[in-house]
Amino acid sequence: MAKERTRFICSNCGHDSPKWQGVCPSCNEWNTFSEQKVVKAVREKNKISISDDGTSNITALSDIRISYADRFSTNLKEFDRVLNGGFVRGSFSLLGGDPGIGKSTLMLQVAKNCPDKKILYIAGEESGSQIKQRASRIGLKGQNLFISSHTEVRDIISKARSSTYDLLIIDSIQTVFSDDLTSLPGSVQQIRECSALLQQLAKKENVTILMIGHVTKDGDIAGPRILEHMVDTVLHFEGDKNHLYRLLRTVKNRFGPAQEVGVFEMKEGGLEEVANPSVLFMSDSEIEVSGNSLTCVMEGTRPILVEVQALVTPSSYSTPQRTASGFDQRRLSLLIAVLEKRAGLSFAGNDVYLNIAGGLKITDPAADFAVVSALISSLKDKPLKRDTIYFGEVGLGGEVRKVSFFEQRIREAEKMGLKKVVAPKVKAAGTSVKVQSAAVITDLRL
Ligand code: TYD
Ligand code: MG
Repeated sequence: MAKERTRFICSNCGHDSPKWQGVCPSCNEWNTFSEQKVVKAVREKNKISISDDGTSNITALSDIRISYADRFSTNLKEFDRVLNGGFVRGSFSLLGGDPGIGKSTLMLQVAKNCPDKKILYIAGEESGSQIKQRASRIGLKGQNLFISSHTEVRDIISKARSSTYDLLIIDSIQTVFSDDLTSLPGSVQQIRECSALLQQLAKKENVTILMIGHVTKDGDIAGPRILEHMVDTVLHFEGDKNHLYRLLRTVKNRFGPAQEVGVFEMKEGGLEEVANPSVLFMSDSEIEVSGNSLTCVMEGTRPILVEVQALVTPSSYSTPQRTASGFDQRRLSLLIAVLEKRAGLSFAGNDVYLNIAGGLKITDPAADFAVVSALISSLKDKPLKRDTIYFGEVGLGGEVRKVSFFEQRIREAEKMGLKKVVAPKVKAAGTSVKVQSAAVITDLRL
């Protein structure tokens, strides 16, 4: 029996309430409630979960067999790295990213690289011929790829059951809807219900599912946060519109470490894997320019060499500008304040621009020391050597603190042919790179 009722659902967190409210009591957002008709099957009262033989379905931990050890490789090294070895069978994953970043292309690339895997692709966003065009661009013939444009959730489930597919791709979850609900596809209610049904399909019938999801302006996956709790793996595909590199990042992974990163480059013929990302972010210019400083940041467990560029110029504004791109602006102001107080330098009357070359956004505190050295170099107009990297976290007292992954960073510098590292004192054995220790920012002596 089905019963219809009206509820008010928060578009931010999915909280549901019988009456409209100005502020969501769950996430404290304003004006997020919208009215939705909900048709809900009435559950049998007091139903207890009892299996056919009359016993309740409780199992001793020791008797449970691990089935998720069974993985299949995507044959894309960068993708496998992020998934910790490939797709776990029966796993339920979510791939988020800005529109046009290459999510659909990435999944077609998986289909191309796994010709022996049978893949069902639910295309809610594009027509078959659009997909075909893209497929021919990346050289995918696609005998193993089956396309359906029906996005009703029960229809998807029955199609997935009709044959044994190795992977079910849903492009995108915002286009999937359930006939049982009256709200529009993409609404919080629809996303929540449809994902719950798909989750059951993955868990009970061991179907491997990857859903593509849109992200909001703030970079969250559109729809309720609950979606991220439901899935086993959350991947983010990100990059800069003006640059060709793309980072595939694990935000959550129930089957391996999170914060792993795969690097791709968008080319004419699709996404290409980048095994050595440092090459992508270091300019090959040999000219020494003041304000440029090299550092090594960690993306997941991966060291990447990047160039920090600072420009300090006399200001023509009454309030000098502080602009950062690819780096936290408040952190830049903090580092300038530390330089003024602890190194006796004055940036007053100067505009300060900071840029991370290549469009990478860095959050690793190890880059602080490179930012500081770039700022001093530009202020004093003295170029830094191009064969040296700087890293370390800068504290408010002007001290340079040790950071993790010291050896990996040095090895990466060595691999890229650099000669010297300036960093807090740590022993580094077996390296040809010269390590100059710096305990405070004034040790830079520029
Ligand atoms: P797409 O996969 O449609 O993005 P999403 O699914 O995340 O919205 O990617 C489309 C973009 O990628 C589009 O701007 C064109 C570009 N592109 C290439 O540069 N080379 C290629 O070989 C392909 C297939 C796409
Ligand atoms: Mg797409």
